[in-house]
Amino acid sequence: MSELNVEYEGLLFPKHVSSQESLRYAREDFQVRDDDVFIVTYPKSGTTWMQEILPLIYSNGDLTPVLTIQNWQRVPWLEHIHSRVLLEERPSPRLITTHFQAHMFPKTFFKSKAKVIYMGRNPRDALVSSFHYHGIASFLEDPGTFDEFIEKFLEGRVMYGSWFDHIKSWWPAKDQDNFLFLTYEEMLQDTRSTLVKLGEFLGKQLSDDVIETIANQSKFNNMKQNNMSNYSFVPTEMINQKETSFFRKGIAGDWKNHFTPAQTERFNSVYAQKMKGLNFPYYKD
Ligand code: A3P
Repeated sequence: MSELNVEYEGLLFPKHVSSQESLRYAREDFQVRDDDVFIVTYPKSGTTWMQEILPLIYSNGDLTPVLTIQNWQRVPWLEHIHSRVLLEERPSPRLITTHFQAHMFPKTFFKSKAKVIYMGRNPRDALVSSFHYHGIASFLEDPGTFDEFIEKFLEGRVMYGSWFDHIKSWWPAKDQDNFLFLTYEEMLQDTRSTLVKLGEFLGKQLSDDVIETIANQSKFNNMKQNNMSNYSFVPTEMINQKETSFFRKGIAGDWKNHFTPAQTERFNSVYAQKMKGLNFPYYKD
């Protein structure tokens, strides 16, 4: 294991933001409230995008929160070192972000009515996005070659563990009333319909004008310009965005520009084996 990671319950977490204590606290001690709303994602699946959208839904389209509060403060991370400080005293309803698999979730969650919005993304695109992110973030391991990174990803030797374990851990919850499963691709294709779905799930009446405002503010190019969302405040030594931006491409299917036919075949065969018997919307390609 790299010295950049901390291991907890057999999974790797970046030491830069999590510790044994913060992970233990999140799981064992964190008190979930019935009106908490969690964004749950596997890394590089559109977390930041959802951190823009949810506050705008709760502000009824008022841009103030997303233009004045950093995303990690407006929708804090459950597993991060500062979660206790940022979340314990926060008035309800709390919006909370996490990359946790279901079995890592706070124990109090399972007795609560708190809601989960799970955002999935084609794992091939999450892999490509993650590969580039590892290249610009000094607190993450060197990704190695793309070929090497594919193997690490397929084996789950990456931060927050295996994509397959992540989605499989949450999939059984998909029909529960307090769970909404969305995909990056559907949100990209039709943001407005996704916003309507989110409004219904969260019990928020959103007018057409408000939906328009949220859809506009959460566009890739607008978020890329938003200093409260684009991580520009992070020093270059931590995240070097000079050549590759955190807001890199924001498209579906970029993996096709990265995978060779042999890599595609290798990925698909592991995918077929690991996802066997699961009626999951991803994707031969
Ligand atoms: P790419 O690297 O493929 O561009 P996360 O926030 O979970 O780390 O995910 C980051 C990925 O989501 C990056 O993907 C980023 O560009 C993309 N993303 C962020 N905001 C987006 C938006 N408004 N629309 C489309 N993609 C977005």
